[in-house]
Amino acid sequence: MSSLCNKQVLLGVSGGIAAYKSAELIRRLQDTGATVRVVMTPAAQHFITPLTLQALSGNPVHTEMLDPEAEAAMGHIELARWADLVLVAPASADFIARLTQGQGNDLLSTVCLATAAPIAIAPAMNQAMWSAASTQANISSLNERNISIFGPASGSQACGDVGPGRMLEPEEIASAAETLFSPGTLAGKTVVITAGPTREAIDPVRYISNQSSGKMGYAIAEAAIEAGARCILITGPTCLTPPEKAQTFKVTSALEMHEASLREAVHSDIFIASAAVADFRPAQNADQKLKKTASDTMSIELVKNPDIVAAVAALEDKPYTVGFAAETQNLENYAKDKLRRKNLDLIVANDVSRSDIGFNSDNNAVTIFGPERTNVIAECSKRQLARQLIDLIAQEIPSE
Ligand code: C5P
Repeated sequence: MSSLCNKQVLLGVSGGIAAYKSAELIRRLQDTGATVRVVMTPAAQHFITPLTLQALSGNPVHTEMLDPEAEAAMGHIELARWADLVLVAPASADFIARLTQGQGNDLLSTVCLATAAPIAIAPAMNQAMWSAASTQANISSLNERNISIFGPASGSQACGDVGPGRMLEPEEIASAAETLFSPGTLAGKTVVITAGPTREAIDPVRYISNQSSGKMGYAIAEAAIEAGARCILITGPTCLTPPEKAQTFKVTSALEMHEASLREAVHSDIFIASAAVADFRPAQNADQKLKKTASDTMSIELVKNPDIVAAVAALEDKPYTVGFAAETQNLENYAKDKLRRKNLDLIVANDVSRSDIGFNSDNNAVTIFGPERTNVIAECSKRQLARQLIDLIAQEIPSE
């Protein structure tokens, strides 16, 4: 599994004949599992069209500093924040000079100024321009600022000269970019996560559900992706936006979640059940809206839903299975009982009697029990908690 898998690479293309190789570079980066967005300088567009790079990257190409449409969707600050890596290939002598000086006179140089992500450049220029004292001084200065310089290679040049200044080949640039990241702790693993509530229909307009926001499950999905896993998110109805890189299945009822979970769990390494699945569903789902009756009471007969996590843990070749236990009393006893009864590898227990954590809150504090371990995670954001949980799971499962 490539260390670039799931990474967001912003490919900057500046003006030079090597810009035609950027098309191939997009493909090589995508082969690693990275998502690629492209920013082009005005000069680059004389060598290759934004349309070509848009078609290859599958994303709109960004060219203008002050583009009202881009500003609303992905302006320079959003692009700078989006990137896990800014890779400029080809980097012309002019672009290198502007990067060295910290200029912000086009979109690409501004993104480089605004980003906290690592920056790498693949220089491409005539050999005399590369050897020029000013270019060499700029390169030394960029080196000192920890900007990675990939190449250039030496050889025959488009202008007929022979010498250093040729851009590295796309696969060499992609390999060099891989060395900037270490593979995540869950690289090569597939993680299935259930999240959110389920809705159990009474009739076409009414249902039984619960207060789950889905925040914990979505945070776990983000953390799994950060750790390099392939993430499958099976989610009940929530107001949240699923992580871009998760394969998301939206379901409504417990029965739908059960079906999707078993289908996906059979080819997964890890199953994390964070959904608040309704324990019961109405025995009848009326075809028409139920009418008021003269009676002061009405009853709905409920039947039990299948226990999804227990069904996954009962699979012959079960994934490493993690459940949640939301309790208002006897946290440890109830959680440990669920761990055994449902045949889980780990259970994440939280006290939902506290209003400051748990359902709908942004924070949580949990105790994690395994057959032979107890870990307390003090109150922190669900995002931080998700990372700690993923770290713990990564330590527990055998690596490839
Ligand atoms: O038994 P209880 O509902 O408290 O167990 C909670 C754990 O079991 C959670 O991980 C939840 O996602 C899972 N669960 C399930 N299917 C159900 C009920 C609970 O997967 N029908």
